[in-house]
Amino acid sequence: MSTDYKLISKQIEQLAAEESFYVPLMSNAAAVLWEALDDINWVGFYFMKDGGLVLGPFQGKVACIHISVGKGVCGTCVAEDRVQRVPDVHRFPGHIACDSATNSEIVLPLHRDGKVVAVLDIDSKQFDRFREEDEEGLRQVALCLEQNLTWE
Ligand code: SME
Repeated sequence: MSTDYKLISKQIEQLAAEESFYVPLMSNAAAVLWEALDDINWVGFYFMKDGGLVLGPFQGKVACIHISVGKGVCGTCVAEDRVQRVPDVHRFPGHIACDSATNSEIVLPLHRDGKVVAVLDIDSKQFDRFREEDEEGLRQVALCLEQNLTWE
């Protein structure tokens, strides 16, 4: 069954109506995505801090804490300011294997005032798990977060 990304964005908007501060909203957004997406083994956020990425709210196994800009799928997403949809992570140069069971991944940039301030990262054990329609739906989710998050 295909994922209802519109419903996910709606749920995030409803959560934001109560509290838009980034810690609770991103924590619950990770939980919403974790429940809604089939065949994923990790979903969460990394934040830009002191020139690199640092782990944020997530669902799944313990993950690496620091990622340099330009390194791995997440760091490449920041460096290029572009969605990275990777059907086979083993073919992605420099992929950082937090969980060796992961086979495909999608990472989307989140902006504030035109700059990348965080990324949304989702992993799957399934090869080629994230299709064009997932990328499109997740772009809408990322936009929804950008429009609703407050940072202080
Ligand atoms: N695989 C990512 C690292 C983060 S974990 O997947 C949670 C990467 O290559 O950037």
